[in-house]
Amino acid sequence: NPTELRFDGKVAIVTGAGNGLGRAHALLFGKLGASVVVNDLGTGTKGEGGEASPADKVVEEIKAAGGKAVASHDSVEDGDKVVQTALDAFGRVDIIVNNAGILRDKSFTRMTDNDWDLVQRVHLRGTYKVAKAAWPHMLKQKYGRIINTTSAVGLYGNFGQANYSAAKAGIVAFSNTLALEGARANIVVNTIAPNAGTRMTATVMPPEMVEALKPDYVAPLVAFLGHESNAETGGVFEVGSGWTAKVRWQRTGGVGFPVNKPLLPEHIAAKWADIINFDDGRATYPTSTQDSFSAVQANFDNVASDVAPAAKPKAAGAPA
Ligand code: NAI
Repeated sequence: NPTELRFDGKVAIVTGAGNGLGRAHALLFGKLGASVVVNDLGTGTKGEGGEASPADKVVEEIKAAGGKAVASHDSVEDGDKVVQTALDAFGRVDIIVNNAGILRDKSFTRMTDNDWDLVQRVHLRGTYKVAKAAWPHMLKQKYGRIINTTSAVGLYGNFGQANYSAAKAGIVAFSNTLALEGARANIVVNTIAPNAGTRMTATVMPPEMVEALKPDYVAPLVAFLGHESNAETGGVFEVGSGWTAKVRWQRTGGVGFPVNKPLLPEHIAAKWADIINFDDGRATYPTSTQDSFSAVQANFDNVASDVAPAAKPKAAGAPA
């Protein structure tokens, strides 16, 4: 058996931990020795209502198993209050799992501003607010592990989820920037795209799929990413049913046009098959904005030789 990854002395905040995935993450951190802040507003899947009991029940479960936990009933939109609960109860914060979420699925035609705003607020702004409140503490202690929750929908899109997919994609980009800004202070930031049978998905999944996609299959990846031994940062991982994989961007080799000739839409059309070809052996996997820009920059010098040099511009002040 591999050595157990322990979290003794570490403080973990798990948001939306009263149900589903968050509950599984919180129970696992508690079992492995972390002091856990079980945050949950206790809303319905659409963000309606609020009650203390989901968070309180998970706290009781962790304590009954011999672990340490406190409840936080604030919304993730009040991230400073969530983090304050950790500081008051345990004096520090080492790990954040931003997991709280709601759905307001509707076709884009029928989606209201409220459907859009609520989903952005809980997912993207909530993730930002909790991370923002913990950030100065993590910088100061030169230690932090943040695991944010996106969705396959945030990577690939999905019918009826324009609001949710946009918020979830925002979380990926947000995490990748925090990974860069946190690196020097040993703050490691990753994103998971889980699949799990929870109350959120029970309405759209058949019962046998809910059973096959237990949240307990996702929590171990979250614990691994949250451990001090993990140096992987800025990663996106699809996970579920006991399967885990890393996702990355791939870019075609691209087509560079001469910079000393007018570039016309017809030139793009003529080269379209090459522009979108991933299979000519020239595709790459950019991992940074600098990396991405290097191909653009390389084309600065793409000068066609069959063009007569432009007439020298007249010296300033010379007669026209
Ligand atoms: P769930 O509905 O079982 O649990 C979400 C929890 O978040 C609930 O207990 C709810 O009370 C809490 N919550 C909602 N708004 C909150 C707020 N403002 N502040 C604090 N807590 C709040 O959902 P599930 O399935 O466990 O989802 C967890 C996360 O995983 C979500 O971010 C979801 O979008 C994401 N996800 C889940 C997938 C799945 O297959 N279950 C697929 C892809 C992503």
